[in-house]
Amino acid sequence: MEKIIEEKNQGTALTLEKDRKNTRNLYIESYGCQMNFSDSEIVASILAQEGFNTTNSLEEADLVLVNTCSIREKAELTVRKRLEKFNAIKKTRPHIRVGVLGCMAERLKSKLLEEERIVDMVVGPDAYKDLPNLIREVDEGRNAVNVILSKDETYGDVAPVRLNSNGVTAFVSITRGCDNMCTFCVVPFTRGRERSRDPQSIVQEVKELWEKGYREVTLLGQNVDSYLWYGGGLKKDFDAASDMQKATAVNFANLLALVAEAQPRMRIRFSTSNPQDMTLDVIETMARFKNICKYIHLPVQSGSDRILKAMNRLHTREEYFELINNIRTIIPDCAISQDIITGFPTETEEDHQDTLSLMDYVKYDFGFMFAYSERPGTLAARKLEDNIPEEVKKRRLSEVIDLQLKHSLKRTKEHLGKIEEVLIEGTSKKSELQWMGRNSQNTVVVFPKEHYAFGEFVMVRIEDCTSATLLGKAVGYSENN
Ligand code: 5AD
Ligand code: SF4
Repeated sequence: MEKIIEEKNQGTALTLEKDRKNTRNLYIESYGCQMNFSDSEIVASILAQEGFNTTNSLEEADLVLVNTCSIREKAELTVRKRLEKFNAIKKTRPHIRVGVLGCMAERLKSKLLEEERIVDMVVGPDAYKDLPNLIREVDEGRNAVNVILSKDETYGDVAPVRLNSNGVTAFVSITRGCDNMCTFCVVPFTRGRERSRDPQSIVQEVKELWEKGYREVTLLGQNVDSYLWYGGGLKKDFDAASDMQKATAVNFANLLALVAEAQPRMRIRFSTSNPQDMTLDVIETMARFKNICKYIHLPVQSGSDRILKAMNRLHTREEYFELINNIRTIIPDCAISQDIITGFPTETEEDHQDTLSLMDYVKYDFGFMFAYSERPGTLAARKLEDNIPEEVKKRRLSEVIDLQLKHSLKRTKEHLGKIEEVLIEGTSKKSELQWMGRNSQNTVVVFPKEHYAFGEFVMVRIEDCTSATLLGKAVGYSENN
């Protein structure tokens, strides 16, 4: 089951080619969302300038950085276990320095230094450019903290070092932060207010990726549809912008068109969309450009109007259906996926049934499903008792997952007999003789390698499927190749 992941968090070690000038080794592990993985590439780039090689061997490390996630308690527990492991290593190799980056750094701030005496450095998501100074502090024997959230830091001027990359697909950050304040979510507190990156720097990064051989980019943000460039600054301050700034502002639909036009053969994806912020313009732009993939990750969280309201999701079930209907009318072959939370405070069996019936209406292609995890400091934690017993949350979660599996299988079956464009991303996990890639809808496709090569666009006839994977045979190159 590849598509349905109950916990998305996974660590990875990242490698960077050795540079003769460099003298110290950086080992960096990333947890959580794609944004964290993308941020780690920015961190590696900033530290490469400071003389750090990136290594995937913990044994070789002089500096260990953990890019952390706070979205659910389980994610934080995983990181704490890793910190214990680093502590054990430090006992035998005392010169090693350990830093916590990302959302846990921002949420727990200097508490991490006090509680976890093993940590030397705590650096929030907007403070990575300060890492060289912070490392100097640590070298001089002091603990170092910078968790200041910024109004304008977007790292637009840092060229990320592509770590552990397959050389074909890459992430490009376009916005940082989130203003939505969903009541369950810690992100607005850990990542700050929404701000967008200069469209020209995005177009330039995508161009450079194409020239290096990349064939697909995913434009990343907590809430991409809310992208708005008016010369810099927070999204919330747009109303106070000048008439000129307003007249020349670039929204997400404009940005998609800009990137798609500038690189007509580059595949473009984006994540994440929020129902209340996704406009018809975006859907129409997707339909207009062949190179924008027909896939929308559109978290709904719940199918109950009462729970949506308590979550501050700012749309109703009916409005969500309207959006789905618009997507299906404008892009009939568009894949849609969800995030759903079970067991939000006060959720009744009836609310849960509403979630199941919403899923039945949409029949998502895939989904990411979670049991509610109370996060300290969020509005839900402050105002609502976490009153759904753990076993009820888990039972509802497995019902949601089972239904999603059924829908995923139905959706993958719809591809049978079709000939679809697939970008080859690597060798199949199951067989050396098969390629693995994805179609426009983001479904994994596996097919015999024959004479086709890594990074090529190939037309594949879909002959068989599971609920997560399509199996087929290449019938020739795509005209995009
Ligand atoms: N508990 C469980 N799931 C959560 N998510 C965000 N916050 C929580 C929480 N407190 C889920 C949402 C979101 C996804 C990234 O993580 O479904 O869309
Ligand atoms: Fe969290 Fe909601 Fe923002 Fe997503 S849209 S990051 S769930 S506050």
